[in-house]
Amino acid sequence: MSFQGHPVEVRPAGAREHLFNDRTVEGYRRSLVAGIDRVASRVARTERPFSGMTPDRLAPEISAIDLEQPLDDPAAALAELEDVYLRDAVYFHHPRYLAHLNCPVVIPALLGEAVLTAVNSSLDTWDQSAGGTLIERRLIDWTAERIGLGAAADGVFTSGGSQSNLQALLLAREEACARAAAASPAPLSRSEILPGLRILASEASHFSVRKSAGLLGLGMDAVIAIGTDQDRRMRPAVLARELDRCRREGLVVMAVVATAGTTDFGSIDPLPQIADLCVAAGTWMHVDAAYGCGLLASRTRRHLLDGIERADSVTVDYHKSFFQPVSSSAFLVRDATVLRHATYHADYLNPARMAEQRIPNQVDKSLQTTRRFDALKLWLTLRIMGADAIGELFDEVVDRAEQAWELLTEDPRFEVVTKSQLSTVVFRYLPQDGPARELADDANLFAREALAASGEAVVAGTKVDGRHYLKFTLLNPETTLADIAHVLDLLAAHAERHLSEKAAPELCRQAG
Ligand SMILES: Cc1ncc(COP(=O)(O)O)c(C=O)c1O
Repeated sequence: MSFQGHPVEVRPAGAREHLFNDRTVEGYRRSLVAGIDRVASRVARTERPFSGMTPDRLAPEISAIDLEQPLDDPAAALAELEDVYLRDAVYFHHPRYLAHLNCPVVIPALLGEAVLTAVNSSLDTWDQSAGGTLIERRLIDWTAERIGLGAAADGVFTSGGSQSNLQALLLAREEACARAAAASPAPLSRSEILPGLRILASEASHFSVRKSAGLLGLGMDAVIAIGTDQDRRMRPAVLARELDRCRREGLVVMAVVATAGTTDFGSIDPLPQIADLCVAAGTWMHVDAAYGCGLLASRTRRHLLDGIERADSVTVDYHKSFFQPVSSSAFLVRDATVLRHATYHADYLNPARMAEQRIPNQVDKSLQTTRRFDALKLWLTLRIMGADAIGELFDEVVDRAEQAWELLTEDPRFEVVTKSQLSTVVFRYLPQDGPARELADDANLFAREALAASGEAVVAGTKVDGRHYLKFTLLNPETTLADIAHVLDLLAAHAERHLSEKAAPELCRQAG
């Protein structure tokens, strides 16, 4: 076939047959269906959340693959993937995956993921996304409305809670610098202001707050840890004292970070009291609701977030408690105009005249440039299931955590720390009495590792007051109380084995 003497190819050939376009849709269908079939059949026969694979055994298998020798065949590549990834992946959908803040995902969101990667919109500018930009904006408005941030609110989807917290503190820093400069009788440079800035956050807040302080040029030490009560919630009296101390010492508290759902304890800081203190001190209030945001969809527990509507900025992670695949997160502000601190007008991308023409470019609000259309997953979730269904799933896991806590408090083998307001349970195996009690730390570390190595279940570990503890993060409504009881038995058996095998000689030695 030819056109004006130039040959025209009818069928794509060679490298071009792999490009996704109007002529390759059949290959696209075949390839994706094969991939979906692989994952579906793997998930259908997954009996344990993890194979127990170690990095030492898996690394050589991955190193042995010659990346200079393509297989040229999706089926062969998928078969290979089975051995280097699917077989030994950690499966969050499994009811005995109880470790970190990873949720099982809902099918409407997986549908969204498939659509968004194929169309591949980039949400930086309207001319790379069109409707995608408007859908993201609508979801930001929906979330802001659920929070109660008011008509002037705005925000943007982010890669995760860490990025949202960084952006919150960036904006708070800029506002604090502007205020400090305006209040000073003599000109003040940024480098003179930064050393005096402080961030107050509870001792149970997420480490990304400290990391952000480092990235923002303040140093991690600029974060002052505020003590918590026995439920691991920030103590407002301690916060008030620190705010006062900073004022007296001429330090500027650029933000107070309240956590609505701490990573370890699922505790929600007393938001109304913190908001009052922030107003009185003229300080930015950021609420890190990365975990607790699921309550926004709950019909029975939304009140636990009361006070969040008074925040200057909020972090929400749909990929933690809205049953969305990684990544799906957002950052919201009460006053849209503060987002200007994240704006840069590049001639090639988003010149200022576009803003004047009211062209909706999300890059003007984001720390990222090219950015996935992650919002589509939440959109299809809301359009297919609805928010109430998400809230029901989250309520179920919070109920389950309450039941697990009761189970643990009645079990003499374990000590449990605090009753979570969300869905974590922090506990440890603790021998009743005798010298073995001293070896509890080792026994808990061992039990966690041995359980993961068996693949029967995956639980997390953390430290409380310098001691090693175990943690369940319950995000799967399919996890039953029987699953939890079974995992406790496994942990106790591993811990007891450790004490009898490894610790007994040590105890004999100590006894003389
Ligand atoms: C309270 C809290 N904030 C922020 C984060 C960070 O979120 P991401 O992992 O999405 O960056 C986490 C993660 O566990 C968290 O628990």
